Amino acid sequence: MAPLNQVILITGASTGIGLATARYFAQRGWQVVATMRTPHKAPADLHTLANVLVLPLDVLDVASIEAAVAAALHAFGRLDVLFNNAGYALAGAFEALSPAQVQQQFNTNVYGVMNVTRAVLPHFRGRKQGLILTTTSVGGHIAFPLYSVYNATKFAVEGFMEGLQYEVKQFNIQVRTIVPGTVRTDFTAAIQYVPAPDYDPYAQRVHEQTLASYAHAATPESVARVVFAATTRGGTSARVLAGAQPKLVYLLRWLLPRRVLSGLLNRTNGG
Ligand SMILES: NC(=O)c1ccc[n+]([C@@H]2O[C@H](COP(=O)([O-])OP(=O)(O)OC[C@H]3O[C@@H](n4cnc5c(N)ncnc54)[C@H](OP(=O)(O)O)[C@@H]3O)[C@@H](O)[C@H]2O)c1
Repeated sequence: MAPLNQVILITGASTGIGLATARYFAQRGWQVVATMRTPHKAPADLHTLANVLVLPLDVLDVASIEAAVAAALHAFGRLDVLFNNAGYALAGAFEALSPAQVQQQFNTNVYGVMNVTRAVLPHFRGRKQGLILTTTSVGGHIAFPLYSVYNATKFAVEGFMEGLQYEVKQFNIQVRTIVPGTVRTDFTAAIQYVPAPDYDPYAQRVHEQTLASYAHAATPESVARVVFAATTRGGTSARVLAGAQPKLVYLLRWLLPRRVLSGLLNRTNGG
């Protein structure tokens, strides 16, 4: 078990992976800064746990990020781990997506991660210690139809974190991505699906198949356990595959020739 004063700041802790991780770390004696856009909607237990501080933070709002980091440092005196987790998926044939929808997807999933990372780095650098974890996705390593823009954001974050890790190593700051497959959370309900009649019936079929694939999804608690292990067990792997499904996909991605993998994905999606 970690010393009682270890502190983790989590974004998107209102539901899903973020909420499960907040609870998991709190149960193990960590001080948890559970940040979210609307704290009054947080499950009651988060507000009552003595070692959980619930704070407002919208990854699009730099002032809210700076205020949350300042409040966390005031309350606990330090941060040990940043868990960039907030995100959502924009889905639909690219042609149907408006520039504003695409911009918003990048603002949240990419610039949001950068905004929070930027706010925490000076503290980690000053202490010569810190760990930055970020939820990406198998969709940050393999792309899927209707998710080209979401995939682009997750590929971007993988690239960003891969480059960042070299720069901050000299300050004893570690950078790792958490790579889940499908996880049963509010994620599917929050998918911003934009229909494209010109792409039907293909698009509608792929969309329904994607949602149906969640019948075999992992639990957010299983991802929380992986996040905890990635935090406490050390290790140097830049990517932490959260479960059997992403491990299999990642293996196929590197073992199979791209042509074979594309054919497989195309058949799976009824293309
Ligand atoms: N579930 C999956 O199958 C899956 C697979 C691979 C990767 N992921 C990734 O896992 C991460 C967590 O998703 P989840 O599955 O736990 O889904 P979720 O239950 O929908 O949680 C997403 C969280 O992100 C928050 N969020 C969205 N926009 C935000 C913003 N602008 N500022 C702050 N918070 C914001 C949401 O807050 P509100 O409650 O305010 O909306 C919510 O707390 C995401 O990055 C997602 O891309 C999920």
